[in-house]
Amino acid sequence: MAGRPKATRSFRAKHSALYASERDCARYDALCSRQDHAGNTLAELLSVVAGDNMASLHVVDVGTGTGKLARLLAPHVQSVSAFDRSDDMITAARAATSARNVSFAVADVRSVPLPDGCAGLVVAGWAISYLKAEYEVWHRDGSSSGPWREEVDAALAEMERL
Ligand SMILES: C[S@@+](CC[C@H](N)C(=O)[O-])C[C@H]1O[C@@H](n2cnc3c(N)ncnc32)[C@H](O)[C@@H]1O
Repeated sequence: MAGRPKATRSFRAKHSALYASERDCARYDALCSRQDHAGNTLAELLSVVAGDNMASLHVVDVGTGTGKLARLLAPHVQSVSAFDRSDDMITAARAATSARNVSFAVADVRSVPLPDGCAGLVVAGWAISYLKAEYEVWHRDGSSSGPWREEVDAALAEMERL
């Protein structure tokens, strides 16, 4: 059929297959635990809010996955509210911490059920980029289209709102 070729199998489908169970989420967590082997992430994140009163800081982590950033920040701040669209990731994240100042819930990065201006720091680790992959359609001639900019902007606007 003439016209624009279809995109390859959707990124969302691939991603769902990758983290299809709690077991896969636990594997993901083990894999990610090696990422910050030099221990730079916490210092970098806290430098963003240097000068603020950490003890009263509320953090929001969107696309938390297994809660890596939430767990890292929790001992240094008042509270962390962490969200992911995957039920399995949220279940794995809950199982990975007993910190009492961290809560996890299912939500999309573009629609977080919290009031405006509630957070002193909003973090997203490797989550916003998924929107580009999901909403960009590649064509055989090497060009791409699709509303990925709007979706990424919506996620950034939501972080800004919080
Ligand atoms: C590569 S993992 C990163 C997890 C964690 N932030 C980290 O740094 O290890 C990406 C996570 O983003 C979540 N995610 C992707 N798109 C999302 C969306 N639109 N809304 C909420 N979560 C999303 C996925 O379910 C997955 O758990």
